[in-house]
Amino acid sequence: MEHGYTYEATLAASHKVNWRLEDVIGGERRLDFSKRFMPEALAQVDALDGLGADEKRVFNQIRGHNYLYLFGVVEEFILPFVLDHARPQLHGDDFRVRALLQVAGEEAKHIHLFKRFREEFTAGFGTDCTMIGPPGEIARQVLSHHPLGVALVILHIEWMTQRHYVESVRDDGELDAQFKSLLRHHWMEEAQHAKLDTLMIEALVAAGSDRDLEAGLADYGKIGALLDAGLVQQVEFDVDSFERACGRRLGAAERERVMAAQQRAMRWTFLGSGMSHPRFLETVERIKPAARRQIEAMAA
Ligand SMILES: [Fe+2]
Ligand SMILES: [Fe+2]
Repeated sequence: MEHGYTYEATLAASHKVNWRLEDVIGGERRLDFSKRFMPEALAQVDALDGLGADEKRVFNQIRGHNYLYLFGVVEEFILPFVLDHARPQLHGDDFRVRALLQVAGEEAKHIHLFKRFREEFTAGFGTDCTMIGPPGEIARQVLSHHPLGVALVILHIEWMTQRHYVESVRDDGELDAQFKSLLRHHWMEEAQHAKLDTLMIEALVAAGSDRDLEAGLADYGKIGALLDAGLVQQVEFDVDSFERACGRRLGAAERERVMAAQQRAMRWTFLGSGMSHPRFLETVERIKPAARRQIEAMAA
């Protein structure tokens, strides 16, 4: 195995970084609404010329809220998927069972963490943000696809999470400290998840036929299209939420410009940055070289 990932090593690394919810939120640790929550590389609000500085900050915070929510949504299907993958192998490799259950426990904790942050956001922001969903329904639709397709989407998401933190969040000194701490703690545990996902995908490919491989790759594309439709809808909701929060309506032409710019930003955040991640593409290439080229073309 070229990547060198093992269940034993990921489990040991997980134990080292494991944190408690109480270490990340509560007490003195509060969101500061005078600050931005998301790095500009993902929020991309600076190019929205018609917005004032305060309005750009508000839009950035709305994007922070949708990041919390949409991560909550994806964790809703990651958790049952990992449990279903672990269930038939409970009597096999002990490290594998423990590593998979460790991931499941961490994802349940992340769902809880994102909910707690959203509660605090809602209390402090003062305007309700409209969201796609409900999360359980999106999870149900995603999980109705081929397990290999779902596993590829999960691998994409977990490498993407790390990329967001390492490339955009870690060195951004302007972000709200509490929101940044959330992203850092999430990243610390996600770093092991992508390795386990790689091992899960290899197990699925080894156990499946050529037909399973084709179905899995095709379903990766279908789930991507499903999520993309959700993102486009969410952008519309975000603009509505922005108008309510700022107490003004955008003109038709400006609204269209904001929507187009934010669609690009959301697609990069949740699709492009995962599809083009080198580690993700390496795994795809290992299972089928031509699929890598297809995904690279899609990402572009
Ligand atoms: Fe997570
Ligand atoms: Fe994860």
